[in-house]
Amino acid sequence: MSTDSWAGRWLVTGAGGMLGQDVLTVLERARIEAVGLRRADLDITDPAAVRAAVEGVTVVVNCAAWTDVDGAETAEEAATAVNGAAVRVLAEACAAAHVRLIHVSTDYVLPGDATEPYREDAETGPVNAYGRSKLVGEQAVTELLPQDGYVVRTAWLYGEHGPNFVATMLKLAAQRDTLDVVDDQHGQPTWSYALARHLVELGRAALKGWAMGGIYHGTASGRTTWMGLAREAYRLSGLDPERIRPTGSDAFVRPAVRPAFSVLAHDNWEAAGLEPLADWRAQLAEAITRPAFADLLRPSATR
Ligand SMILES: NC(=O)c1ccc[n+]([C@@H]2O[C@H](COP(=O)([O-])OP(=O)(O)OC[C@H]3O[C@@H](n4cnc5c(N)ncnc54)[C@H](OP(=O)(O)O)[C@@H]3O)[C@@H](O)[C@H]2O)c1
Repeated sequence: MSTDSWAGRWLVTGAGGMLGQDVLTVLERARIEAVGLRRADLDITDPAAVRAAVEGVTVVVNCAAWTDVDGAETAEEAATAVNGAAVRVLAEACAAAHVRLIHVSTDYVLPGDATEPYREDAETGPVNAYGRSKLVGEQAVTELLPQDGYVVRTAWLYGEHGPNFVATMLKLAAQRDTLDVVDDQHGQPTWSYALARHLVELGRAALKGWAMGGIYHGTASGRTTWMGLAREAYRLSGLDPERIRPTGSDAFVRPAVRPAFSVLAHDNWEAAGLEPLADWRAQLAEAITRPAFADLLRPSATR
C-alpha cells in the first residue's frame, strides 16, 4: 500500500501498550509510514538508543510510560526514570533533530479537587507518585520543545489491547449478580482508539503548522463516575444497569490516592483546527461493538 509521503516517517514508542497499539493501527489506516518500537526494541531510559531512534523521523508519539499507579508509590524513583528523566532525554533528542514530539500525559498531574473542568493552564499539583513522575515529563517537553512539543493529557482510558475497567465490568457480569462501583470520582472515560485518532490528527496539524505546541486535553467530552460508566457499559450490552450499585472510594482503599475530580476542559483543540474528542457515551457505544468487548458478553448476555 502506498503511503502519504508528505507526513514523513513517524515513530511510536511504547508500541506494545494499549494506546501504542491503537496509534499504530490508526497510522496504518491513514497510510502514514510508521515505526512502532516496543519496550524490547527501545527502552526509553537508554539515551543513546533514543537519540538513534528519532533520527530521520518527523513525529514521535510517546506512548511509553510507567503506568503502575499503585506500584509507583513505593518505586517513585523508578517511575520517574521512565516518566520524567527519559522523557527529558527524548525531548532533547527531538529538539536536536527538529522532530515534533507528541507526549501522552495524565489528569493525575492535577490536584483533582476542583468543581469546574480543569483548563489546560490550570495549576498542577499531583496527589500521588505516578502523577508527580508524569509532571516531570510534561515539564521537560514544554521547556525543551515550546513549539514542537505537544503534551496530551488523557484519563480513564479503556481499549482493546490492555486490561481496563470496561472489560473488567463486562467479565464480572458472568460471575456476580451485583457489583458495587465507586460513584464519588468524576471523570471522562476515553476510548484509546478514539484518542489514537486524535493524536494522529494532531500530528498532521503539527506538520502543517496549524497546531501550536503546548498542552492539550485528550479526554472524552462530557463526564460521569465509574458507576455511571459501568452502568452505561451494561445498558449498551443488554445487561441490567441496576446490577451496578453505588459505593464510595473509602470502600476501595488503594496505595495511591485517586483524584476525586478529573474533568478536563478542551479549549486548545479549537486553535489547532480540531474538535475535542466526542462524548464518552458515543465513544463507548462505538468501542463496545469491537470483538474484544463484545466477545466478553456472550455467556452473560441473557442475564
Ligand atoms: N490507562 C490509563 O487509564 C491512562 C490514564 C491517563 C494517562 N495514561 C497515559 O497514557 C499513555 C499510554 O498508557 P497505556 O494505557 O497504553 O499503558 P500501557 O498499556 O501500560 O502501555 C505503556 C507501555 O510502555 C511500555 N514501557 C514501560 N516502560 C518502558 C520503557 N522504559 N521503555 C519503553 N517502553 C516502556 C510498557 O511496556 P511493558 O508492558 O513491557 O512494561 C507498555 O507497553 C501513558 O503515557 C500513560 O501514562 C493512561
